[in-house]
Amino acid sequence: MIEVKNISKKFNNNVVLNGIDLNINKGDVVAIIGPSGTGKSTFLRCLNRLEKPENGSITIDDLNVDLAHSDKKSLVELRKKTSMVFQGFNLFSKKTALENVMEGLIVVKKMDKKKAEEIAREQLKNVGLLEWANHYPAHLSGGQQQRVAIARALAMEPELLLLDEPTSALDPELVGEVLDTIKKAANEGYTMLLVSHEMNFVKNVATRVIFLENGKIIEDGPPKEVFNHPKSDRVREFFAKINRMVEPEYSI
Ligand SMILES: Nc1ncnc2c1ncn2[C@@H]1O[C@H](COP(=O)(O)OP(=O)(O)OP(=O)(O)O)[C@@H](O)[C@H]1O
Ligand SMILES: [Mg+2]
Repeated sequence: MIEVKNISKKFNNNVVLNGIDLNINKGDVVAIIGPSGTGKSTFLRCLNRLEKPENGSITIDDLNVDLAHSDKKSLVELRKKTSMVFQGFNLFSKKTALENVMEGLIVVKKMDKKKAEEIAREQLKNVGLLEWANHYPAHLSGGQQQRVAIARALAMEPELLLLDEPTSALDPELVGEVLDTIKKAANEGYTMLLVSHEMNFVKNVATRVIFLENGKIIEDGPPKEVFNHPKSDRVREFFAKINRMVEPEYSI
């Protein structure tokens, strides 16, 4: 089990996360949903310490990291166990697809180049991009770049994979290939924390959905329950708004 305890984060006087606790079972795909600006990205970023919270800890296996006061060594250990996939892919533009996937293995895991390349090729093959190994990000479509980013994250064999709106920067026709890649990783048993606005995907792939608002988790349950029978009025209202966007009330 992965145990997240008491994460609090504010920017100046803006309290974004207000003491969040979350236990995640191995193999679970936990989707985080909620209105814009509610702290979903900040929460993910605190968990692998791209953002430093005022308070909070994460325990993964035998590693316990105090996220507010961690030393360099425990941060390296944390980054070995967590990987993040970003909305904007965040690939190194001056490195090929293969070199992008190799980077963390060499820098964080201190692997030798030959072994790192072997793993990177295997991962690129897994996401269907082996023949693009020697291309630079600028030569790849958004969907392909995001699949390289997923290959890079999975190459680290993370205990927890963090995905922050991995499809929202993509042209609509490229969304499917990235969602398929994520679904494949979910089926392989990776533990994931996923922020997504793709509600149908969340319904199909997530084993658990949490709704974040005003710094707190206000709903937490299996997708069927959260989507069909939300406990709180606020969550019901959120879904009603989303459904109105899918099925407009007005036509021109
Ligand atoms: N570096 C920062 N400095 C100041 N305020 C920040 C910073 N990063 C985030 N915030 C604020 O924290 C709040 C939460 O932002 P965050 O990006 O985590 O929301 P979100 O739920 O991911 O939103 P979205 O769905 O639009 O991506 C917002 O009010 C945002 O303006
Ligand atoms: Mg966000």
